[in-house]
Amino acid sequence: MIGAVQPDVVAHRGASAHRAEHTVAAYALAIEQGADGLECDVRLSRDGHLVCVHDRKVDRTSSGKGVVSTLTLERLSQLDYGSWYPGMPETADELLRPPDESERGVLTLESLLDLVEANRGIKLFVETKHPVRYGGLVETKLIAMLRRYGLARPKSKEDSPVVMMSFSSRAVRRVRDHTDTLPTVLLLDQLSVTRWDGTLPSYADYTGPGVHILRHDPDYVERARSFGAETYVWTVDDAEDVALCTKLDVRFLATNSPATTVKLLNR
Ligand code: G3P
Ligand code: CA
Repeated sequence: MIGAVQPDVVAHRGASAHRAEHTVAAYALAIEQGADGLECDVRLSRDGHLVCVHDRKVDRTSSGKGVVSTLTLERLSQLDYGSWYPGMPETADELLRPPDESERGVLTLESLLDLVEANRGIKLFVETKHPVRYGGLVETKLIAMLRRYGLARPKSKEDSPVVMMSFSSRAVRRVRDHTDTLPTVLLLDQLSVTRWDGTLPSYADYTGPGVHILRHDPDYVERARSFGAETYVWTVDDAEDVALCTKLDVRFLATNSPATTVKLLNR
């Protein structure tokens, strides 16, 4: 039956409509708001640490400037990742609240995994950025870290606390070469969907279109399902898109405001 199962709500860069993206505060709030999963982007610092930053440079989301891969973790840690954010308080009281430390520091993947471990049942969707620039190192380091946490080889893909994602088929394939049980999402943007024939490569478990793709091609989800693939959709922030994803039975939807989406889903 269409719309029988509700999608899981994934907080895109944390509850990034209400807190500065990729901060501990944004992820903690997402959990409070009822998110089922958390999404983050990872890059390598100059000295080989996995840090959660979306852009190639820190300019937009911190008090500093520069390309992430040219800055050491020590330098990245000296920057403030909260003050740039104009803020969208949830309540009037929050307008007067000064930002606390959880809204300022650089977030390492390790800290985020600690948060996920402390909140059993929450799924973490890790998107690796720029696999070409890093020559595969970001995926190798990711797998090594997941091994340390005992998360690289989950017993079942459905129950895995971590899911790996990328727009790069090469990056997804690399992860599959390391471990065949860690679930993966091959993300698709507008450009790549024109080349999509409805099948999914064997190294990917889920297909990950932007919601704009579903608006133009509502048969997408059912076509993917006929090839055995469930769908992860990003970034779903308004009522019409939430209704579309529910109607089409998508498996996961990523949103900047879990609070709004959870409400729209009547949960
Ligand atoms: O969840 C996938 C989505 O995050 C991809 O786009 O640019 O926000 O990383 P972007
Ligand atoms: Ca992302």
